Amino acid sequence: MDKIVLKGGTPLHGEVEVSGAKNAALPILASALLAEGTTTFRNVPDLADVKTMLAVLRTMGCEAERLTGKKADTCEISITGDITPEAPYDLVKTMRASILVLGPLVARFGRARVSMPGGCAIGARPIDQHLKGLKALGAEIHLTEGYVEARAKQLKGGMVNFDVITVTGTENVMMAAVLAKGRTVMENCAREPEVEELARVLNKMGAKVEGAGSSVITIEGVESLNPVDHAILPDRIEAGTLLVAAAISGGNVLVKHARPEHLDAVIDKLRESGCTITAEGGGLRCKAPRSLKSVNITTTEHPGFPTDMQAQLMALMTVSHGTSVISENIFENRFMHVPELHRLGADITIQGHTAVVKGVKGLSGAQVMATDLRASASLILAGLRAEGQTEVSRVYHLDRGYERLERKLRGLGADIRRVKERA
Ligand code: EPZ
Repeated sequence: MDKIVLKGGTPLHGEVEVSGAKNAALPILASALLAEGTTTFRNVPDLADVKTMLAVLRTMGCEAERLTGKKADTCEISITGDITPEAPYDLVKTMRASILVLGPLVARFGRARVSMPGGCAIGARPIDQHLKGLKALGAEIHLTEGYVEARAKQLKGGMVNFDVITVTGTENVMMAAVLAKGRTVMENCAREPEVEELARVLNKMGAKVEGAGSSVITIEGVESLNPVDHAILPDRIEAGTLLVAAAISGGNVLVKHARPEHLDAVIDKLRESGCTITAEGGGLRCKAPRSLKSVNITTTEHPGFPTDMQAQLMALMTVSHGTSVISENIFENRFMHVPELHRLGADITIQGHTAVVKGVKGLSGAQVMATDLRASASLILAGLRAEGQTEVSRVYHLDRGYERLERKLRGLGADIRRVKERA
């Protein structure tokens, strides 16, 4: 098992590139199931979760692989003839987003058997809305032996009204509705850029999806879809994390490919804390202020402040002047990074789903443990500022969603390396 060891205190400088978006790549890889033939996706980040999705597709009998050499950012998925529409527990338990194969499988093959994802470190994360949506399109759903069994000779267009706004729920039902007979209207949909990107790919395949990016999506079902070649959009959460790295280290960094229109709420909060954020060279530059001001954060669905940036902004607030109130409204257990930030000397009090962060003069390095993907990023960010050495263990969490983050930070001047943890 690896750990990351870093010494803080170096202001980051230079340019860094953002990789393709994890939360777009996962549904988009699953969408390949909707078309016969070979689909090619470029700018696919090299992450543990992407490896798992490719493995899920292979267990069904698809050819699914990442190319090598100059095309190492490209994945090819070939589907010819029938497949075994099943996603096993052993894979789904490692990555709950595997549930995204459910919609495409029942739509294209008329049946699917997918392991229930189970709980997760940050919350219970049920899939009731995914199932509600598929039922509204006429799928028969049974839960047996920990698996969702879905069947439908032919899905039919219908009305889907989500009780809660769900990103992968919206994506799963979209991927089912594109091959349903007739029109589907989905209300109270997620508006995340990744949902829009999936709609872009589906329409390229020949689907008729309108309204993605708004809370109402309308889909006219079609008979069949074609394979495509598509480059995946940049990762806005990785971009946000790199902007915070510049801010917390007191540096000045250009984050290439970062799209301002996907990061409005994050940019607002960084500016409010005193950072200078400018669009430049097809990316975003962050120049840190002499001293950071505390700001309040409330996580909501897009275009509000993303829950996937909460831990990173909390790290920044630990060394800002004043008191910051951070409310987490999406997941019920997403403060696991707080006790670890305490170990670095942070002053944070939790009251229910709110954390009160009192800025301290400085942090000091320590051994800390990652508990989930974004928590691991927040510990590395705090380590960039902490005096002395910080060791972050269990970085397999980090590798699920960041492509070689320590190498990118080293390229900006950070004293950081990955080492094998002694057993
Ligand atoms: C997606 O998860 C992202 N994952 C998450 O990113 C992100 O945190 C989340 O959206 C919110 O933005 C991917 O896209 C692969 P939700 P998802 O369904 O779709 C409740 C990261 O760090 N809910 O939008 O699973 C749920 O419990 C990850 O990259 C139901 O009650 O999240 C939560 O409280 C972590 N029933 C809320 O809705 C359902 O059927 C939002 O969850 C579905 C969800």
